[in-house]
Amino acid sequence: MSLCNMKELLSAVKGTNRAVGSFSVGSMEMVMGAVRAAEETGTPIILQVAEVRLPYSPLALLGPMMVGAARAARVPVAVHLDHGLTQEVLRQALELGFTSVMFDGSKLPLEENIRRTKEAAALAASYGASVEAELGRVGGSEDGTEKNACVCTDPAEAERFQQETGVDALAVAIGNAHGNYRAAPQLRFDVLAQVAARVEAPLVLHGGTGITPADFQRCAENGICKINIATASFDALTAGAARYLKQEGEAAGFFGLTAAMEQAVYENVLRHIHIFNHESL
Ligand code: 13P
Repeated sequence: MSLCNMKELLSAVKGTNRAVGSFSVGSMEMVMGAVRAAEETGTPIILQVAEVRLPYSPLALLGPMMVGAARAARVPVAVHLDHGLTQEVLRQALELGFTSVMFDGSKLPLEENIRRTKEAAALAASYGASVEAELGRVGGSEDGTEKNACVCTDPAEAERFQQETGVDALAVAIGNAHGNYRAAPQLRFDVLAQVAARVEAPLVLHGGTGITPADFQRCAENGICKINIATASFDALTAGAARYLKQEGEAAGFFGLTAAMEQAVYENVLRHIHIFNHESL
């Protein structure tokens, strides 16, 4: 059984200049494509789904598929709830066997973020699972409905936050944003270095889509242990399906279509795994 705890995966890469890819999934094709890339490269990954995506991919259906795929995988795979907003959904994910949850209190005042993150950490610990939180505010929202600019993480606040909450992983805001970047991102490596110097916990980079391989690798060299990729996989699947339908025309069919979608996600995940493993620039 290869379902594993996120904390173990992140501590294994801390200090190695590598990062673990955390890949968002919304369907069976996405789960299969991501796990195939992980197995083929012998690289552990994290499968994740965000609470805002659940109207499209209900947790009661997608969750068991993610956990089942992780259990059957030939490499360690953690299963993670991304951007959890309510205790109810956190608990539902943990009941399904997710091995980590993120509580996203980044919109809340610091004191309230600390209080609610501690509650989430206690809940996760009661299931033997890990917890991730966010401090500062990553630009935009996971589903593209919010357009807020990035508010960089304050290094002193991050130190206090980690000490008081004891989170296993901390998502930082360093000029990164969810979705496709409108202008090339200018990551604040100075802020990242200051946070990394004060926070023991592995750091997480959200908004991975559109960041260059060189910047990914520089992040991994400076304390980032987990990198989230969502939009690039959703876009790859859509483009793969469109290409297949155009190419096959009237001969297109369901099985060819699902294979094209799985292949497109596989290729995207594979490319990111190589970058996060420091294997190509
Ligand atoms: P992207 O959609 O920009 O890849 O961001 C993914 C993410 O951070 C999910 O939490």
